[in-house]
Amino acid sequence: MTTAVDRVTVTTVADNYSDMLLLDEPNVKRLGLVHHFDPGMVNPRAENGIAFLVRTERDGRERCVLFDTSFTAGVLLHNFEATGGRLDDVCGIVISHGHPDHHGGLDGVLAAIGHEVPVVIHPDAFLPRYLRLPTGEVAPHYNYALTADAIERRGGAITANRGAIEVVDGVFATGEIAREVPFEAPASPGCHDPGLFQLIDGSLGPDTVPDDQALAINVRGVGLVVLTGCSHAGVINTVECARRVTGEDRVHAVMGGFHLGFPGIPASKTTATIAALRELAPRVVAPMHCTGMRAAMEIAREMPEEFLLNVVGTTVSFGAADA
Ligand SMILES: [Fe+2]
Ligand SMILES: [Fe+2]
Repeated sequence: MTTAVDRVTVTTVADNYSDMLLLDEPNVKRLGLVHHFDPGMVNPRAENGIAFLVRTERDGRERCVLFDTSFTAGVLLHNFEATGGRLDDVCGIVISHGHPDHHGGLDGVLAAIGHEVPVVIHPDAFLPRYLRLPTGEVAPHYNYALTADAIERRGGAITANRGAIEVVDGVFATGEIAREVPFEAPASPGCHDPGLFQLIDGSLGPDTVPDDQALAINVRGVGLVVLTGCSHAGVINTVECARRVTGEDRVHAVMGGFHLGFPGIPASKTTATIAALRELAPRVVAPMHCTGMRAAMEIAREMPEEFLLNVVGTTVSFGAADA
């Protein structure tokens, strides 16, 4: 049996959406109208990206891990201030994959932390990536700034992982995610994003995002809290991987990008994802970021009890005492 934490608190420090009209719910805290109207408070900002500040408690000890760093350090650091997050508390950073909406703020956040901090990242995240749209428009080598040198110069101590690792007690970076669920398998419709390419062993091929990984937190008496970046490997494959890595079968919460909104992904994939999520029976489902508004609305409609509208500034707590 793997390690478990007593409690975890997940603050969304960056996401595509902001909504200052949301109210607190049991175990869910929002930045709301006071933040909006009081000129002395800092309002959170939304951008195309994602970042979670994950605070765990285990045997009276707190640990803090940052999962992904959103698109820009400007928004990420601003939202740290808005949410009351403390950079000094961050004892590890995990990058879900090498797309800019997930690592873009890394350089700036390392500079702001100002001392050595572990950075967990799959080695293929450093391979050159390109965008070429069907219209012929090209974004050349867009991840050129993401290098091991650049991270180390800023004080990042890299762990380049292909397999799973325990970042701090009870918090696991999944490593590579097997793509086994039929509607999320490599040959399934919408599995690869058209237009995205990666240079591997000197040849340019479709960007299958081999570096995609998630964060799984094993909460004692509750089950797994699974946080996803983009879910390029498929959100159901991701949850299954989290179960294997932790040895814990109960899935309590799935939160993050489900990657159902990218152009070219068929609506049938959302339907299949919802059916599979129902079988996993999590208590909380929070589709965010690249899930896309249309798919998120369908999840909200089909899983109203489980759906959580989780936006920038939302903090959710999970622990046996909260269940
Ligand atoms: Fe991505
Ligand atoms: Fe993304």
